[in-house]
Amino acid sequence: MNNNDTIKKTLIVAISLCLVCSALISFSAVELRDLQEANKTLDKQSKILSAAGLLTEGTEISELFESIEPRIVNLETGEFDSAIDLDQYEESSFSRDPNTSIELSSNQDIALLKRRENFQTVYLHYNSQALNAIILPVRGYGLWGTMKGYLALEPDLKTIIGLEFFDHKETPGLGGEIDNPKWKEIWKGKEVFSDSGDILISVIKGSVDKSSDEAKYQVDGLSGATITSNGVTNLLSFWLGDMGYGPLLEQLQDKETKGV
Ligand SMILES: Cc1cc2nc3c(=O)[nH]c(=O)nc-3n(C[C@H](O)[C@H](O)[C@H](O)COP(=O)(O)O)c2cc1C
Repeated sequence: MNNNDTIKKTLIVAISLCLVCSALISFSAVELRDLQEANKTLDKQSKILSAAGLLTEGTEISELFESIEPRIVNLETGEFDSAIDLDQYEESSFSRDPNTSIELSSNQDIALLKRRENFQTVYLHYNSQALNAIILPVRGYGLWGTMKGYLALEPDLKTIIGLEFFDHKETPGLGGEIDNPKWKEIWKGKEVFSDSGDILISVIKGSVDKSSDEAKYQVDGLSGATITSNGVTNLLSFWLGDMGYGPLLEQLQDKETKGV
């Protein structure tokens, strides 16, 4: 009589099943890696376009993205740097490597980044050779993790075209409302700097009093998500400041006023 109900046979079936499943998982993980990377890139491109108000339905994202000029910028000097190949640049490795990043002091580190890369990629959009939008990668800690996104500014370098996040771990319905189209709409036309150059943009607690002089620098807070809201304020303050894109924005402003 052939008895299949033995410990030995049960173990053989269980182990074989595990081996087959792990082989399948490894195979699909390796095979799908390129596809996943391509999808991530496409998602980032769509957020860059969306932040700048350039996302139109019916046209391929990659086609629309051809109108965007990515440039590497040296965050310390604010100058564009062509020595670094755009394809070689990777934010995560640059921000970890001590040779390509600096450690932030607790006073400087308002966005809770620990280190800041010395170079970043910024995205420019031109309309008949005139700057139409500058799109700046921004990131900072919310409640559960780092929120990563893009801030697009008008050519005056202070009026917001849009703010889009492409990666965060905030709770859906609470901090996750940073993705809510209605909330994102509020950002359009808000200003980040006062006339004297102070960074005033902030997400306040509650609703903005539209009649107040500060209204153009303020965005309604997300209810039940003050920590995320403060995280957004802090990350914008960091990236618009001296340790972020401050030097670049100054350089661009100088060129604009001198007509270079
Ligand atoms: C399960 C859970 C998830 C939460 N997720 C968030 C979040 O994503 N962002 C946030 O700011 N607060 C979140 N909170 C609430 C915070 O702990 C905190 O109470 C809140 O930020 C205070 O905001 P409020 O003053 O607007 O109520 C969460 C709370 C719980 C219990």
